[in-house]
Amino acid sequence: MVSEAYKQRIAGLREQIEAALSCSVAGRLWPVSLQSAVEYSLLAGGKRLRPVLVLLANEVCGGHMGAALPAACAIEMIHTYSLIHDDLPAMDNDDYRRGRLTNHKVYGEASAILAGDALLTLAFEMLSQAELSAGIRAELMRILAVAAGGGGMVGGQVLDLEAERGGGLSLASQGSGLASDKSGTAGVAANGAKNGCGVAEVADSGQWPEPAAGMAAGLTIPGNSEIAGVVSSRKVTASVEDLNRIHRMKTGALIAASLEMGAVTAGAGCEQRAELVRYGHCIGLAFQIADDVLDITGDAAKLGKTPGRDVDLGKLTYPALLGLESSRERAKELVREACGALKCFGEERRWLEELAGFIVERDH
Ligand code: IPE
Ligand code: IPE
Ligand code: MG
Ligand code: MG
Ligand code: MG
Repeated sequence: MVSEAYKQRIAGLREQIEAALSCSVAGRLWPVSLQSAVEYSLLAGGKRLRPVLVLLANEVCGGHMGAALPAACAIEMIHTYSLIHDDLPAMDNDDYRRGRLTNHKVYGEASAILAGDALLTLAFEMLSQAELSAGIRAELMRILAVAAGGGGMVGGQVLDLEAERGGGLSLASQGSGLASDKSGTAGVAANGAKNGCGVAEVADSGQWPEPAAGMAAGLTIPGNSEIAGVVSSRKVTASVEDLNRIHRMKTGALIAASLEMGAVTAGAGCEQRAELVRYGHCIGLAFQIADDVLDITGDAAKLGKTPGRDVDLGKLTYPALLGLESSRERAKELVREACGALKCFGEERRWLEELAGFIVERDH
């Protein structure tokens, strides 16, 4: 259970984020219908996890919130765009999001695609205009571009779709080393590759959380008869490594980038930055495991989206591969690992510790 103090702290941060997001889209010289479609999804609530992480990372590194707010807004814009596109008929074909009809259900598919495009580009506009040094602005844009792109979120979404109903993954990719990436850091490793802060070395040394012994490679997913069709409609073979790679790319990359961007806005040193990225990858994977679990156990009203869709779509998920209990255990283990990465920080780390706990306890 998270503490009252935590709830109040997060509520305060969320207020600041909501105000900054409203401000950032207000009064744009955009077609009215585009403005409306963008505001419909961006200002629809949501947990605001990623911008909260930007602000907390900035704080734990001794920064000022004002310096981090543009990055907080930018990452939420990218996340919201990813949700609008994720819900499209060509992707997960969902009807509800954040407690309301999905963007395309209200505005049509073409407008929803374009609203996502507008949010994607607005994120970079925000960063380009932030009152920070040119070097920090460029670094923030690089981190966000890498995490959101083909080696991160977008690439992860591609693999997620390819893995539906037992499809094979096109993992072999020149340059990214996906096929041979034993540590499962594909895509995210590149995020640290050029930052001169050694984040890539952390990735390459295989320190990312891996499944407990016995859960790794070559696992055969039991078919319906074996898991009673409750957690999976798949009858295929995939490994936990494959799944970790998908989850780390489609979800973990943006979450880790939130932490790294927060650190950069505070002018953090290499060690702090690398440890926050490590924390980010652990909670990022835990977050998507919890999302997979909630798709089975969650309540539509609390989730604000329709549960059961992963089974309908034959998605490769943690419960499909390992069952509900092992999935929950794995998520908790990752939270412990995440908190272990915070040791180099002072007292303010407690918010990040509680947030990690919230990720696996949440019901929405
Ligand atoms: C949903 O993200 C998509 C995933 C990466 C699992 P969130 O659960 O953070 O969605 P909101 O922002 O709270 O609506
Ligand atoms: C979405 O994963 C990940 C991204 C949007 C990048 P899911 O497809 O599992 O998210 P939900 O369950 O629709 O929120
Ligand atoms: Mg999806
Ligand atoms: Mg989805
Ligand atoms: Mg999901």
